[in-house]
Amino acid sequence: MLLTSSPDLWARMNTQPGYKKSRWYYRASRLDWRNDNIFSQLDTQKHDERRSQMIRGYSGAENLTLDDDIESCVLKLLHLIRSRYAGQRKMDLAQKIYFYMFDVISTIGIGQSYDLLDTDEDPNDYVKSSHVGLETCNRQVALGTWWMNQIPLFSPKADLDIENTKGFYKMTALNAAVVEAREREFHQQRSLGVVPRADMLTSFIKNGISGDDLKAENMLQIVAGTDSTGAALRATLLYVMTNRRVYNTLQAEIDDAVKSGLAPRAPEIIQPKQAKELRYLQAVVKEGMRICPPANNQLCRDTPPEGDIVVIDGEEVYLPGGVSIIPSFKAMHRNKSVYGEDANVDVFRPERWLEERDEQKRKTSLQLIDIST
Ligand code: HEM
Repeated sequence: MLLTSSPDLWARMNTQPGYKKSRWYYRASRLDWRNDNIFSQLDTQKHDERRSQMIRGYSGAENLTLDDDIESCVLKLLHLIRSRYAGQRKMDLAQKIYFYMFDVISTIGIGQSYDLLDTDEDPNDYVKSSHVGLETCNRQVALGTWWMNQIPLFSPKADLDIENTKGFYKMTALNAAVVEAREREFHQQRSLGVVPRADMLTSFIKNGISGDDLKAENMLQIVAGTDSTGAALRATLLYVMTNRRVYNTLQAEIDDAVKSGLAPRAPEIIQPKQAKELRYLQAVVKEGMRICPPANNQLCRDTPPEGDIVVIDGEEVYLPGGVSIIPSFKAMHRNKSVYGEDANVDVFRPERWLEERDEQKRKTSLQLIDIST
């Protein structure tokens, strides 16, 4: 096993034929013991086929409701803060961020919100159970006992009483019911010539994902999409709120954008295209993800059976076959060979993204942040 902070090695293990996802981590990531999802799929060909079925939904090309779905949740979050908390009492922002994320991902994933923001509570313990689940999964991976989850005897009972169940089992059962209904509806609508809601689920069905595979991909979305984005938002907001200089610079950029008409005045919401024009905001987002990388999983790959010769920090190194290489994103994002010897990598300083003149370094650090590839 090898832990690396080298972005070059991380890029190589993702692009060089012969590298494979390590079984000890990815097989453990099955949410349903019987079924792989795109993340847990070890077979590269099957993974790539599934990816091509999903790419149009994820990229937004066939998911025309994406921006509106997210905007509706932003409006709910703002409404909740203004109506229940503003100027009145303390609010746990970290909790509201997760409520927001669960509403966003359920809306874009199944076309129905879990409504945590509307009710300002989580009666089914979705958030709690997702934290417990991730923690348990990580502990089991570390101890090597993950296979116990995949023993049918320890799996949820087929006659589970959904009404009186909470947490992940309830979420899985509810999502499965919605996904089944949506799949049926899709085929009925198609036979009648009706155009279905152009969202992520429709795109997956249209591109040939069905039945248990569709359910598995849907649940992966909830798990992969909520914790990652929730952690990114939490960390970035924390760093901004506790750093007056950054806060003021960001506020000034927003005020200027509103004055110049680049961004709409409240209560209207800024559009993604407009937000991309705010250079400092973009730098804040990148710096938030750099200083506190939201995905810290052991995204490991095994070296090819014949081994590989790799270049790390300008030096050639031979790696024997079958070594599981784990990227450390935290170390990568504080790696001075990426960000510069004189860069104070432990400090939250969005300006670094606006100053980098070395084109190669700029590209490498941007690739590390870009999650769309
Ligand atoms: C800040 C937010 C996010 C970060 C930092 C992030 C990070 C990552 C990373 C690093 C991978 C690669 C895993 C690997 O190499 O095995 C990945 C894969 C994946 N992510 Fe995210 N992600 C984020 C948000 C999301 C969201 C919102 C969704 C769903 C709505 C999502 C769904 C997925 C899926 C399905 C995969 C598997 C892709 C594949 O194997 O081809 N992610 N994510």
